[in-house]
Amino acid sequence: RVVAVIMVGGPTKGTRFRPLSLNIPKPLFPLAGQPMVHHPISACKKIPNLAQIFLIGFYDEREFALYVSSISNELRVPVRYLREDKPHGSAGGLYNFRDLIMEDSPSHIFLLNCDVCCSFPLPEMLESHRRYGGMGTILVIKVSAESANQFGELVADPATNELLHYTEKPETFVSDRINCGVYIFTPDIFTAIQGVSTQRKDRANLRRLSSFDAIDSATRNLPADFVRLDQDILSPLAGKKQFYTYESMDFWEQIKTPGMSLKCSALYLAQFRFTSPHLLASGDGTKSAAISGDVYIHPSAKVHPTAKIGPNVSISANARIGAGARLISCIILDDVEIKENAVVIHAIVGWKSSIGRWSRVQASGDYNAKLGVTILGESVSVEDEVVVVNSIVLPNKTLNVSVQEEIIL
Ligand code: GDD
Repeated sequence: RVVAVIMVGGPTKGTRFRPLSLNIPKPLFPLAGQPMVHHPISACKKIPNLAQIFLIGFYDEREFALYVSSISNELRVPVRYLREDKPHGSAGGLYNFRDLIMEDSPSHIFLLNCDVCCSFPLPEMLESHRRYGGMGTILVIKVSAESANQFGELVADPATNELLHYTEKPETFVSDRINCGVYIFTPDIFTAIQGVSTQRKDRANLRRLSSFDAIDSATRNLPADFVRLDQDILSPLAGKKQFYTYESMDFWEQIKTPGMSLKCSALYLAQFRFTSPHLLASGDGTKSAAISGDVYIHPSAKVHPTAKIGPNVSISANARIGAGARLISCIILDDVEIKENAVVIHAIVGWKSSIGRWSRVQASGDYNAKLGVTILGESVSVEDEVVVVNSIVLPNKTLNVSVQEEIIL
């Protein structure tokens, strides 16, 4: 049997995701109309003999209760939220719940970061992992040499795929192959994590007894139960025939900012063409709006037949899109109203916001730039004929004049 664990983090993380994370835990923010964490969860459906899925985080249980119960029913696989009392790091969090995770005596454990967007080739990873025969297999991808330093960089043996060297976010270039934050382990991983924790305790004791101090200051102050998968496990165990790599040739992105969520929404909508075509709006029928490219529209949303929508548009529950409105590359959240002839391009429109007649809410669409996507927080009101360009607007603001390149606090 196999279990899957998804690390969802907690409220102190995800600050780069503001102002959207003020309303909703980042893992529940919708991409292509589904909560972010829904995409890795539905990828787990393809794992043979999957017994359970665990979400581990330090958000309040109540935030996940509704989602966890509805997805368990839908998938017919138990999905449970396990709450940490404090952050234990990616490996420490796993170790903290080892008894529950081992309940079904799984032979393998998948571990997924919730803030990555990819095709999650999980059955293929499992098959390769069995062939390699190590303790763990890491999903890796080749990225541009300039962007690699935002991730864990690694070197693998081209013939055997063994992980030879691993450095987390290095200052000088190591490799353009990076850690995708998707792993499969045998239960031996728990012994490896325990080893790090014990070693920390021993060193702390030794320091108390003598002036001996051989470890760097960054590691010295970490509590014994805080263990990071990357720095504390992968780096020291690289080159010891314990870890192997599986290279993805598909798409992969990390979702740290609202701008990236718009890009990832596009990637998941495109994937729906193959995995869930019923979720994409078709635009046929005389009463429906003109649809171009990949579009998701929640069944409760009301879109006027003269509106033009797409590509890369996701419209959430109870949104109302008026006559002649034009929507391109945007995420429209619950209860938003877009009035007649308004235009929204490269933007995220927060819950209960309203966009006035003939208004424009737009941005350059440079996903990596700070203001490359215009973001409106919850209950923002853009009055008629107002233009909002490359800006971020915090919740509950009313805009009655046009703004450009501004952060409205
Ligand atoms: N439950 C829980 N508890 N989750 C955590 C904790 C914790 O203490 N710490 C981190 N996470 C979750 C985050 O929410 C995220 O989904 C994932 O674990 C990884 O977060 P970080 O440890 O902050 O690392 P990162 O995202 O900057 O980088 C990691 O992922 C990259 C791929 O996206 C590293 O492993 C990189 O090497 C890797 O390239």
